[in-house]
Amino acid sequence: APSDPGLVERARAAKEALGDRVFVLGHHYQRDEVIAFADVTGDSFKLARDAAARPEAEFIVFCGVHFMAESADILTGPDQKVVLPDLAAGCSMADMARLAQVEDAWDALADAGVVDSVVPVTYMNSSADIKAFCGRNGGVVCTSSNAEVALEWAFEQKPDAKILFLPDQHLGRNTAVQKMGLTLDDCVVWNPLRPGGGLTPEQLRDAKVILWKGHCSVHGRFSPAVVDELRATIPGVNILVHPECQHEVVLKADLVGSTEFIIQTIEAAPAGSSWAIGTELNLVKRLANAHPDKNIVFLDKTVCYCSTMNRIDLPHFVWAMESLVAGTVPNQITVDPETEKWALVALERMLALPG
Ligand code: 13P
Ligand code: SF4
Repeated sequence: APSDPGLVERARAAKEALGDRVFVLGHHYQRDEVIAFADVTGDSFKLARDAAARPEAEFIVFCGVHFMAESADILTGPDQKVVLPDLAAGCSMADMARLAQVEDAWDALADAGVVDSVVPVTYMNSSADIKAFCGRNGGVVCTSSNAEVALEWAFEQKPDAKILFLPDQHLGRNTAVQKMGLTLDDCVVWNPLRPGGGLTPEQLRDAKVILWKGHCSVHGRFSPAVVDELRATIPGVNILVHPECQHEVVLKADLVGSTEFIIQTIEAAPAGSSWAIGTELNLVKRLANAHPDKNIVFLDKTVCYCSTMNRIDLPHFVWAMESLVAGTVPNQITVDPETEKWALVALERMLALPG
């Protein structure tokens, strides 16, 4: 539905009143009504860099989810305030790895006698304390656009290195197997809900990659059967998916990459080409609307929004912006100094990766 014109006008007025004091970041999964007010849009990697590159902005309004706002707080100066327009905008995947659980896994790796060769790598989609754990233990953060270089870096850190990959098993498996030439047998899955992760010490010793049993419920819905069906019904269709999809889907896809990669691929595609895209629906709809000369369909038959990304809507955005105009800082996201210090180590290692 079109946005309420009164709210659109209020958002515009608040943005104008704040001028350069505010910088609005919008993740590609945000609603159109919010993206319309973003100063920059991007994938998680680009937004982390963009947040760090605006030291003059007093307020960073982060239209995305909680872990992204935390990362922005870590990467920005001490006087800059990061605002998340709705505090309920979390990420179910990030919630699947808690610090105490990760510490249990670390203890099990110590008991198995291998912890000294483990390099922890966490996907950006994780809480600040998990990033700090990685920073403290010689590890790194990665995003869907640099997971391969991050794993290469991690394997070079120690002789016979093993990787503990948090929290998305699919991104970890897809990167290890599809991009780095490892086999499925090189990977084991640590289930935080089972004693000892559901693994024996031998399995921990033999594995090259220990995948945390986390996943994205949005991307988990895409299935290999629908890929087959679309290939049978749309001649010449290209299947383009995000690496948070299940391995079986990624194996059947033509191209795999971050949200930014998906956008660039569609922008570069010839008129008349056909694409089935496996990622969040706001982005796929926006791409279909922006490219009427290309046949763009969604890789699922059901509606598949990220419900937490969708929590940031125009009313929440207007409320946050008008509060700033009125002199209060709503929903400020702050990371405690000790966590920030170590999370920054892991984030800076990521920002220093080649490419
Ligand atoms: P990217 O934008 O980095 O591809 O990540 C997608 C995502 O699920 C963010 O939560
Ligand atoms: Fe988290 Fe998945 Fe939503 Fe991304 S799409 S924010 S991984 S739940």
